[in-house]
Amino acid sequence: MPTFPQNIISKLPKAGTTIFTIMSALANEHKAINLSQGFPNFETSPELISLVNLYMKKGMNQYAPMQGILPLREIIAEKMESLYGTSYHPDSEITITSGGTQAIFTAIASVIREGDEVIVVEPAYDCYVPAIELCGGIPVFVQLKAPDYNIDWEAVKKVVTGRTKMIMINTPQNPTGSVLTENDMKQLEKITSGTGIIILSDEVYEHIIFDGLKHESVCRYPKLAERSFVIFSFGKTYHTTGWKMGYCLAPTNLSAEFRKVHQFMVFCANTPIQYALADYMKKKEMYEGLSEFYQAKRDFFIRQISGSKFKWKPASGSYFQLLDYSAITNEKDTEFAKRLTKEFGVASIPISVFYHEGIDQKLLRFCFAKTEETLEMAAERLMKIS
Ligand SMILES: Cc1ncc(COP(=O)(O)O)c(C=O)c1O
Repeated sequence: MPTFPQNIISKLPKAGTTIFTIMSALANEHKAINLSQGFPNFETSPELISLVNLYMKKGMNQYAPMQGILPLREIIAEKMESLYGTSYHPDSEITITSGGTQAIFTAIASVIREGDEVIVVEPAYDCYVPAIELCGGIPVFVQLKAPDYNIDWEAVKKVVTGRTKMIMINTPQNPTGSVLTENDMKQLEKITSGTGIIILSDEVYEHIIFDGLKHESVCRYPKLAERSFVIFSFGKTYHTTGWKMGYCLAPTNLSAEFRKVHQFMVFCANTPIQYALADYMKKKEMYEGLSEFYQAKRDFFIRQISGSKFKWKPASGSYFQLLDYSAITNEKDTEFAKRLTKEFGVASIPISVFYHEGIDQKLLRFCFAKTEETLEMAAERLMKIS
């Protein structure tokens, strides 16, 4: 069909099909075990599903309030108080969204204008930069350092200018599995003190943190919280990534701007799921036990591949494990990821795609949010590579 108009100038000229779509399609084509995209391959709780069903049958099938239903906002406020000792007002500081991605886009769109600089720590989750660019913002990159992937705060300081509008952080971090510490938070406090810099803290993996480490939410730090959008996702916590439900916490003035965009972007999030989550969140043990649940999976996966040619440092959080394949081949990570899928039947994500300049460190990301059976099969195949 002829296209009209012919002269569209793309607003995202560099964006193509994402690597997640490419690798999942390749995995399907070659019947490979798909450890590429980050989603669990086990079921969510039948009780949660029944609750959604119950509220659908009860007739909760029309628009929810723009900011989300009150019982859900209230229980989130309670949770923040008990976990992080911080108080967010359900009326004016908590907004329910259609997933973490929408919350991130909305937060950026609500404050970033043409020419504003946004500091992005990379390798970075792939929705950050397009959102900044669509709003006319300029991403300014600071690289995490291998093998621990700590933030070099001196490097951050060097790129702060009068035009810096936002610093984005992500802990636990996708794709590296690193986590921020109390010292990181103190450094961030110092850098932002006395400035108008807004923080966007992506904490969607807050409950997936290992080896006794503590999740350092910006919410724990009043001087950071007062300038932060903090983003969470129910998808990661309740094994329901396909439901696309999340929330954003921010002080009243930031939340007011957030909601102005939110109401014209989606207006509100899914109604029956909000009611179901408001009930289900009362079961604190579901999120309290999540770190242990995923640590067992991380350890299982690592045990299964010990003795292989891959090298690794165990992830400190998230459900991703990086594997270094430099002892196997010198191929580019994008090429090796494809070959691994086609020839060995295991799909992963090459880390270079999370860097704006495609830095290749011979690293692949594997998602271990899978059944033991799947992880065992994948490991068997990885062990065969020499
Ligand atoms: C770091 C990070 N932020 C945000 C998201 C998006 O969350 P959601 O699926 O709720 O949109 C993801 C999902 O993979 C993620 O890894």
